[in-house]
Amino acid sequence: MVINKEWSVLTIGDGDLSFSRSIFDNYKPKKLTATVLDSVNELTSKYGSEHLDYLQKQSDGVLNEVDCQVVTEFDITDLDKVRQLTQEYDLVIFQFPLVPNFSSQGEFQQHTKTRTQIGSQSSEQFLSINTINRRLLRLFLINSFDCLLAQDGAQLAYISSKDVKPYIEWDIEYSLTKETELSCIGSMEFITEQFPGYKIRNVDRDKHVKDTASLTYVWTSNHNREARLDLFPAMNPLPTLFGELGCDICHAGPFETEQEKTSHQAGKKHKRMSEYEAQWQGYLQSS
Ligand SMILES: C[S@@+](CC[C@H](N)C(=O)[O-])C[C@H]1O[C@@H](n2cnc3c(N)ncnc32)[C@H](O)[C@@H]1O
Repeated sequence: MVINKEWSVLTIGDGDLSFSRSIFDNYKPKKLTATVLDSVNELTSKYGSEHLDYLQKQSDGVLNEVDCQVVTEFDITDLDKVRQLTQEYDLVIFQFPLVPNFSSQGEFQQHTKTRTQIGSQSSEQFLSINTINRRLLRLFLINSFDCLLAQDGAQLAYISSKDVKPYIEWDIEYSLTKETELSCIGSMEFITEQFPGYKIRNVDRDKHVKDTASLTYVWTSNHNREARLDLFPAMNPLPTLFGELGCDICHAGPFETEQEKTSHQAGKKHKRMSEYEAQWQGYLQSS
């Protein structure tokens, strides 16, 4: 992961704050603001307060090299909260985003009920977990670029995510910033060892998540695209889109024959991904 010492860095949804602490200790950026969705009490009861205490002590110190701050109860989808921070960051990072589990069916319905538009038809339905995770990531990107990243700064947002299902079914590279001025410019392997002390946390429990292969995806605004590519010489390019010759929903192709295409379209994976895509399109049209 590229983190420049000259940058002001903001972390979002940083479970137990061990990632932010590792950035503080090992990268020493100009400024670090670490945010978590939980309140102090929730964070402490889930994970303990070791990293919170450590970072808060640093933020109290007057002689620190790094200007450091911790913000709790920070929901990246809530514009009132987002606007409480200043638009001064170069880089915003969300490690392993995932919407929290719902405590009851009622809470699930309250958070997922929506009116969606498919073509000219409007209907009320409950969004799938796939769509609400895409919505979280889309709002993270839009709110970061609109309200948190300095116009004259590096203008970068990173999302690290596991390279397995269900995360790869979010179509992270292409679906999140449709109809915006932002684009994903590629991905890099996320190497946990570059962040000593960092433990990837489960969304709701004090459980260390298994280390599976993960990627860090990079976004910038379209007009910065070419200039920012220079910062990431070893980046994986975006998956190729083949249009009619392949399947851009599943990132498959190019198909050699019509039969290959038909049998892909008849497969379970394609049907599932098509349903996710249709619901996502419906959400985008109605949002
Ligand atoms: C799988 S955990 C990963 C935690 C941490 N980033 C890490 O890498 O260990 C997903 C995190 O996303 C956070 N999250 C979910 N929705 C959020 C939101 N709307 N705003 C900020 N954080 C959110 C959760 O609080 C949780 O800490």
